[in-house]
Amino acid sequence: VEEKKTLFIIFGGSGDLARRKLYPALFRLFLAGTLNEHFAVIGTSRRSWPDEYYQNIVLDSIAKVNGATQDDRQNFAKHFFYQANDVTDVGHYKVLKHRAREIAQKFQIDGPWLYYLAMAPTLFGTITENLARCEFLENSHPNRLVIEKPFGHDYLSAKTLNEEIQKAFPEKDIYRIDHYLGKEIVQNIVPFRFSNPLIKSIWNSKFISNIQITLAEKVGVEERAGYYEQAGALRDMFQNHISQLMMLSSMEEPVSLEANDFVEQKYRVLASLKPLNQQDLLNNFVRGQYCASKEMPGYREEAGVDPKSNVETFVAGKLELQTPSLKGVPIYFRTGKRLKEKETRIDVVFKAPETGPYLDAKNNVLTIFIDPSSGISLKYNAKSIGDTKILSHFEMQRLYTEEERHQMPEAYQRLFHDVLNGDKTNFVQWEELCASWKLTDQIVNYWHQQPLADSEFYAAGSLGPRSANDLLANDHNYWIYQG
Ligand code: BG6
Repeated sequence: VEEKKTLFIIFGGSGDLARRKLYPALFRLFLAGTLNEHFAVIGTSRRSWPDEYYQNIVLDSIAKVNGATQDDRQNFAKHFFYQANDVTDVGHYKVLKHRAREIAQKFQIDGPWLYYLAMAPTLFGTITENLARCEFLENSHPNRLVIEKPFGHDYLSAKTLNEEIQKAFPEKDIYRIDHYLGKEIVQNIVPFRFSNPLIKSIWNSKFISNIQITLAEKVGVEERAGYYEQAGALRDMFQNHISQLMMLSSMEEPVSLEANDFVEQKYRVLASLKPLNQQDLLNNFVRGQYCASKEMPGYREEAGVDPKSNVETFVAGKLELQTPSLKGVPIYFRTGKRLKEKETRIDVVFKAPETGPYLDAKNNVLTIFIDPSSGISLKYNAKSIGDTKILSHFEMQRLYTEEERHQMPEAYQRLFHDVLNGDKTNFVQWEELCASWKLTDQIVNYWHQQPLADSEFYAAGSLGPRSANDLLANDHNYWIYQG
């Protein structure tokens, strides 16, 4: 394993994301040897803490990572330093920079400085501007910027934010995270589609009837009402995760696996969609909000939610693909909070025979399971067992085993690894983001003209409003996943 010499500066170093995800991910990279002697992490946030206090927080946050000795943990924590920082105060950046230089020298880090913004997006622009102003980004070392979602609230705010950060960092150094792109099976969609001639040759409009993306969640809004009331399901899940899955499952084959070639094909999926007209907006998108069931409160009763809130906690929709291979194929999606169970999957529905003796055959369905199980299955027709000619649906399924899942790097570990390697394939580029925001805006703006109708509420624990089923029924299709 090649050691990656890196200085990390984590803004929001005392926050929840850093503790839950980032420190454990860095620790795993340390155990794997990717991070070794020559790395250091400077955590910053408003509070003032001594280094030791911060190191204890880091130790706490890696307590659950298995396979490490006490020594490993202590050695890892020694690479962590803390610097209180008011991100709006230029003076603080000077102190931070001085400290960063000292620490980089101490650990002989001649590799990149990686700035991770794990905090309120409203401050992203201020931070990058101040980093540039205080000459963090000089050329003595490469610089990389990693940002978390949400990247803007709509197209215009995303564009403003992007212009702000691009004043400081060129696009090639910006890594926008979508944690779905760090999931093992999600990274496997493209290799599965294009490395198997069998699969590749049928992934087109001649054979595919429709594609269905489901991101069902069991949890409600949890403690995030403040954010969610501003966002809603379309911005929270469609703009990013669903758009990404749509692109991966319908893009044309990239000429190479280089990030630019890869993203170019992804982007074309969204860029080629027909503009939505009023009729599409009315007919092709469904929203919903969960209301109370026997055991669970409704969204409007959740702490921090406006009792008259019109925010959608469920969306379903249909888009018609326009890429050369899948022209005219509908892609359906749905996601919601407080649905029956957690289930994240892509169902690719193939056409049933239209001529010949097997007109009773059902559609072949290829499912890419993402969560909670992960793997691929194919439903096919075969003769029922016994003395009969009647067909039945059988299933070939390959799910990752517990042991395999155990070996898989966790999403943040993988994404950090890519940033350290300067590989942007699994990050979101501006063009894609721009296209998905424009699409999202159109739908949200249309909905916001009217309050939720009675028929748009669904009981907590159900599978969403009935109109989500009608959406497919109108095309003589149905959701493969029925709970
Ligand atoms: C986040 C959303 O991006 O993704 C959350 O903000 C959602 O609302 C989460 O719960 C789902 O991620 P996963 O990996 O659990 O499917």
